[in-house]
Amino acid sequence: MNKEVALFCGNANVALAKAIAKYLKIPLSDALVSRFSDGEVRVKIKENVRGKDVFIVQPTCTPVNDNLMELLVMMDALKRASAKRITAVIPYFGYARQDRKDQPRVPISAKLVANLLVVSGASRVLTVDLHAGQIQGFFDIPLDNLYAINIFIDALRKMIRPKKTVVVSPDVGGIKMARGYAKRLGTSLAIIDKRRNSPESTEVMHILGEVKGKDAVLVDDIIATGGSLVEAATALKKEGARNIYAAITHGVLSANAIERISHSAISQLLITNSIPLAREKKISKIKVLNMAPLLAEAIKRIHFERSISILFDYAD
Ligand code: R5P
Repeated sequence: MNKEVALFCGNANVALAKAIAKYLKIPLSDALVSRFSDGEVRVKIKENVRGKDVFIVQPTCTPVNDNLMELLVMMDALKRASAKRITAVIPYFGYARQDRKDQPRVPISAKLVANLLVVSGASRVLTVDLHAGQIQGFFDIPLDNLYAINIFIDALRKMIRPKKTVVVSPDVGGIKMARGYAKRLGTSLAIIDKRRNSPESTEVMHILGEVKGKDAVLVDDIIATGGSLVEAATALKKEGARNIYAAITHGVLSANAIERISHSAISQLLITNSIPLAREKKISKIKVLNMAPLLAEAIKRIHFERSISILFDYAD
């Protein structure tokens, strides 16, 4: 990496930003990102960024609005400090599930967030396993949506026997991702027909595919309350599945997710460090895999204007 690059972060996931910096062999750039006494976000970029290719690592995880606002205010500061290009590196893109008007009088908050990012100064966005690929169209700037599948595949290969395993999508929307995993692992595929009754509660209607006597690997982009995952695991057990594993990119783990997972039929849940896992959420069933090399490689390729398509190959 040459001197024209600068890597910043807000407070959302400092450990991940440091891991990316280490991989790139560059220091994290210096900025004050704190609060005024009334809670307003206070930012001061502490080094010269004039003409630089700037990357800011900031997932918009909980506290969602604070982390989002830090990112927006940092970009405003960098833009006004004459950074040449600003890439918002958003490993977990919050608000992505509000991506359409599925009821009367609801917002499309994902589009609003996209507008805010652009207005604040983002020249491009780098993210991982965006909840819905179409969100890319909410931006009129380049957006690279990386896939975490490669991070999980090696770990899963050590855990499963392909002929005796089925990859399961917990909902119809996740079929493409699940098919990618099944192909890469050489397993069969099943799909759960799920109905969401409320933001916290889901119901399994049917399981499409053969799961009896097999180990199951549930794959998804987000685990929030854990409702979808735990309901799916219960239904799979009922249908005669043996061990149940899960590989889920973003461990939002909100509400009573940890309690639900602890008491569930899931033997092992793999997540990534796109979102920091709070100490009280660390349980033996959850293993965190590192996405820093993936993001660092993408940052390097963006900086040197090289193709990054190799980093989002589902192989399907
Ligand atoms: C839904 O479309 C997503 O892919 C996840 O399955 C969902 O957001 C998980 O939410 P929860 O853990 O609250 O069921």
